[in-house]
Amino acid sequence: MTERVVFEQVRVIDPVTGTDEVRDVAVADGVLAAETPSGAERIDARSLVLTAGLVDLHTHLREPGDEHKETVASGTRAAAAGGYTAVAAMANTDPPTDNAAIVQAVRDLAAAAGSCDVFPIGAITRGLDGEALAEMGEMVDAGVRIFSDDGRSVPTARLLRNALQYAKAFPVEVVLAEHAEDASLVEGGQMHEGARSASLGLAGRPAEAEEVIVARDLAITRSCGGRLHLCHLSSARSVELVRRAKAEGVRVTAEVTPHHLVGTDDDLVTYDTMKKMNPPLRTAEDRDALRAGLADGTIDVIATDHAPHAVEDKDREFDLAPPGTIGLETALAVVMTHLVEPGLLPLMRAIEALTSGPARILGTADHGGPLEPGRPANLVVFDPAAEWTVEAPFASKARNSAFLGERLRGRVRFTMLRGAFTVADGKPTR
Ligand code: DOR
Repeated sequence: MTERVVFEQVRVIDPVTGTDEVRDVAVADGVLAAETPSGAERIDARSLVLTAGLVDLHTHLREPGDEHKETVASGTRAAAAGGYTAVAAMANTDPPTDNAAIVQAVRDLAAAAGSCDVFPIGAITRGLDGEALAEMGEMVDAGVRIFSDDGRSVPTARLLRNALQYAKAFPVEVVLAEHAEDASLVEGGQMHEGARSASLGLAGRPAEAEEVIVARDLAITRSCGGRLHLCHLSSARSVELVRRAKAEGVRVTAEVTPHHLVGTDDDLVTYDTMKKMNPPLRTAEDRDALRAGLADGTIDVIATDHAPHAVEDKDREFDLAPPGTIGLETALAVVMTHLVEPGLLPLMRAIEALTSGPARILGTADHGGPLEPGRPANLVVFDPAAEWTVEAPFASKARNSAFLGERLRGRVRFTMLRGAFTVADGKPTR
């Protein structure tokens, strides 16, 4: 049901227009309204912040195949709870999203659930096997705009070049999103390779595993053209490689996760499997370079890499536990608490990296603002001062959060998808 509502005296932040002002924001008939409609519900929103709904370029919804970990319905409810109105769903499902039928099935499940728009990402290689290209054309016809074998890298430079050349031939622009970790260097690795992995006796995943793929992919994109997106950057040298490539005009974008912006390999001293993820948390120098890269725009967006796992899978020996942390319900508060509040990232830039930045890469005009009359009412209203503790239950089926037990500031109060509440008074409506 679409609402007639006015958020009174809310702080509106819109990076598309550069707006940061306190005013009333009215919604009617699914869109932002120029004037308060008659009979509108009035919500006192003084001290709250209103922005475009958040957009995540990197969500694992696990359906089809691993519905015990997450479903499209539970994952999109988690997204709404975190303030998201659009997520791009990774292709490493079972079976993988490597054809138009699965793309449509995921989209239908999302439409039926009604919590958040889902943009399925297509696999680059058939079955994610790293050998032959998937039916990318068929998926483009079905509306796919991002392709990725996330979970692992495109294994060879030649295959990446073929994929970029194939992608360039489509009448619409598509993006290849790379999970940059060289398989030969991370085999068996459990955490960042360095002094800490040595002291803990865990096999390492070195920063070079990421850097060689980033360098390779930038070289290929530089020579053959096309659009490259680098997922979850984790190493300082990767940031520097992207900075230089951008200066040369290579068409590359990059993302960083909230956990890589906050955590380091020192967090693993308790062998906490919640902090095990690929790529791994690295050193404080790496984390600081990621923060600087995000602030100066070298890294375009913040993406969650929301990776739900079953309790029994994470509750095992460190080297047997699967990598990944959920992130949709904590991303905004982690960014507010650890970056915006301490003055490391301006609020406007944080919101850009969570909304209009990812919407642009996704190629959707309906999300990410601008917040102007007539535009779809896809928005979030949050309380920047509200404190809460990260704990189960989550709206997600999973509870494997790297931030479990942390006190955070910043709480979603309302999320609207095309003018309908998906979160009201802090609670998912669906
Ligand atoms: O930590 C991770 N988990 N990294 C990935 O690349 C994949 C993801 C997953 O699917 O669980």
